Amino acid sequence: MIKAQKLFDQLWHDYISQNPEAKRVYDLLVSEGETVVNDHIAFRTFDDPRISIDILAKPFIDAGYEYKGDYVFEEKKLVAKHYEYKPFRDAPRIFISALQPKYFSPFLQTSVAELIDRIPEKILDASSLIHAGNVWGTPEYDTYLKLKEESEYAAWLYVYGFRANHFTVSINALKKYNDIYVLNQFLKDQGFVLNASGGEVKGTPEELLEQSSTKAGKLDVQFKKGVFNIPSCYYEFARRYPDQTGKLYGGFIAKSADKIFESTDNLPEN
Ligand code: NI
Repeated sequence: MIKAQKLFDQLWHDYISQNPEAKRVYDLLVSEGETVVNDHIAFRTFDDPRISIDILAKPFIDAGYEYKGDYVFEEKKLVAKHYEYKPFRDAPRIFISALQPKYFSPFLQTSVAELIDRIPEKILDASSLIHAGNVWGTPEYDTYLKLKEESEYAAWLYVYGFRANHFTVSINALKKYNDIYVLNQFLKDQGFVLNASGGEVKGTPEELLEQSSTKAGKLDVQFKKGVFNIPSCYYEFARRYPDQTGKLYGGFIAKSADKIFESTDNLPEN
């Protein structure tokens, strides 16, 4: 776990540098006397054997994590796997999804193939791919926009590369705010904007998982033709319920997660 903890610290520091809003939410919860436990950390990749989910999962497997389940998100054309670390109950689940280019336009398929061809061999071979960031070089703004028309996911991955897409606060581990509706209201009262696509709360107690998230903040990103202010990451909140056997549900719901993936879409302009 010590090995994984080092990796988590590294991922968290990178994540809050990309997403200062998450740090503000984190600090706020700590100032309320809460202990912030991560329910899961999510990563993105393209479905290609060179950068597959299994390859990204390697450092976690090496640290003692085990494969726990896989998912298909039909609407978003994603597949995903999740991993858990049994010996330590509060260890975050690892959730890695992969976009399937084969269901998209020839433009997206060609662009993705070219990007992967560009990754230096030594990065592909290393177990550090999971936090290697943008491994395909300074992005083109026009390509970003064109990818975004088809898939927000692909556009995000094109710009930000391999890093945590989001961390997720375990609502179960909170004391004062261990109800998703109470937590959401508190965050909104503090001025945070939540992702309302598909309703602020995705999932129900019957489905054993409720989730919500902030809308992604925006970040100045260097493109070839200049700096543009684009959405970065979001911070997620998850409340889990026990199943019939009394065991806390540990999986992910494909139906509601389709909506969560929209949190990095642009904020409405005002
Ligand atoms: Ni998530």
